Amino acid sequence: MYDHYGSGCISSVLASKSRPVFWLADAQAIKVVATDKATFDKDMDFYSNGMLFFGPNIIASDTSTWKRHRMISNPAFNESVNGVVWKETAKAVKNWFSELDSRTNNSDGEISIHTFDSFSTLALTIFACAGFGSDGATPITELRETLRMAFHHSAARTSLPDWVFDLTNRIHIPFLSPYLRKTIGVYEALDQMCMKAVSEVRADVLLEKSNSTTGGALLRNLVKANMDVDGEQDEKERGQRSLTDRELVSNMFLFFIAGHETTANALSFVCAFLALYPDVQRKILDEIELIWPNGVPEDVAEAEYKNAFSRLTYTTAAFYEALRLIPIVSRLGRMVLKDTVLRTYRLNGIGDPEPYSVPMKEGSEIMIDMAAVHRNPIYWGADADEFKPERFVDTDTYRWPRDAFLAFSTGFRDCIGRKFAAVEGANVLARIIRRYEILVPKRLRDMPFEEQKAYLSKWRPFVTNSPVYPEVTFRRRS
Ligand code: HEM
Repeated sequence: MYDHYGSGCISSVLASKSRPVFWLADAQAIKVVATDKATFDKDMDFYSNGMLFFGPNIIASDTSTWKRHRMISNPAFNESVNGVVWKETAKAVKNWFSELDSRTNNSDGEISIHTFDSFSTLALTIFACAGFGSDGATPITELRETLRMAFHHSAARTSLPDWVFDLTNRIHIPFLSPYLRKTIGVYEALDQMCMKAVSEVRADVLLEKSNSTTGGALLRNLVKANMDVDGEQDEKERGQRSLTDRELVSNMFLFFIAGHETTANALSFVCAFLALYPDVQRKILDEIELIWPNGVPEDVAEAEYKNAFSRLTYTTAAFYEALRLIPIVSRLGRMVLKDTVLRTYRLNGIGDPEPYSVPMKEGSEIMIDMAAVHRNPIYWGADADEFKPERFVDTDTYRWPRDAFLAFSTGFRDCIGRKFAAVEGANVLARIIRRYEILVPKRLRDMPFEEQKAYLSKWRPFVTNSPVYPEVTFRRRS
């Protein structure tokens, strides 16, 4: 559409709400929308429907409320969490590999992998440990199981309004009532666990238990950041700057929802691309062998994270490049708060962008179209559809504006878990590639490359974009 109309902005009318919608494939215009707090804000109707049942939180809040949540959360996502993510990822992958070993008994040594299921389990385990502290006061297996159930029931919990749950509680509707009662039960259990974990962690922090297993974990950091603000303020200011226990729990749940499925889907797509591009796998293997000539260590300390992660540049680039081609969140909505004019571009006859202005009325909607920006040849060149991790490494040859990579959004509401996801993603990939060759599934091998690619990279849009065919094959390297 952007090509067809030769513009970085196209408009449509949302019939259901009778308002204009401006779609943007222009990175500079998006930057303005994402940074000008006075003129643009999130479409809160969209978020508040399904995200507030645990209480107010960072994602489902307008800018004024959001500031308090972000101020406490920012210091919580610090380098100590990344160290814990690094260590817990190594542990989780080791257990997963043991399970794969027990499945490899066929003669060709190939194992078929359901990528989303595998990475979803991994991401869940890693979040449970790095989020709450491995073997903290709340038993990690119990917590992980409850998070897993919460994830399975999340579509129902976030898409149905509260009155549906009330109704099905009072009137028995076959199949639906039992399922929704179970949903409520799971979320109540998770809520209780999280509230208990908050009090336990607070007690830990007060006693300055230095040997605590929750050290460095996200929840402990969050509670601590909140207590630091508490300590600084008088009674009146405290309420305005710190978070209540309910808000802390709501945010932890949000971190889980925002971080779990996104990372699992991203890893699924990277594996699909790696299966299609063995030369990229080779380069990742070269990088890994340089860092760990004697094999990737199975048990790692948190302190090793900084040195090792910063050297996994090509591996991390492969993670980002897959996210460029298939952004897990492909569009974000914003509301226009007051009449404004947005500068964007249109293409003149010979395809050069020239600036022009689009007037926008208060109440209009904007769609930040990450999927379109990520394949816009103005930024990424004629080979924008190709999988080339080099773009994120060799930035002299591959020149693109920093604002044109939007997988983690941009501006003041960008993803707070970007590094968390990258540390986990690069670590998982390095370990897989060192041990296995990733191949396209056997039954696709006779297909031409373009058909394989179309098949494995086919995605379905939902809350986040997931692969339609989440499958690859692993073959153990000799
Ligand atoms: C590949 C993985 C990930 C992708 C692609 C991703 C993408 C995004 C995007 C596009 C947004 C903007 C959403 C919006 O404006 O509504 C966002 C926000 C957010 N993400 Fe992520 N994310 C990932 C991983 C994570 C992880 C691991 C965590 C936490 C552990 C996390 C926590 C959050 C939070 C809390 C926000 C809201 C920030 C705010 O409004 O201030 N994300 N993410």
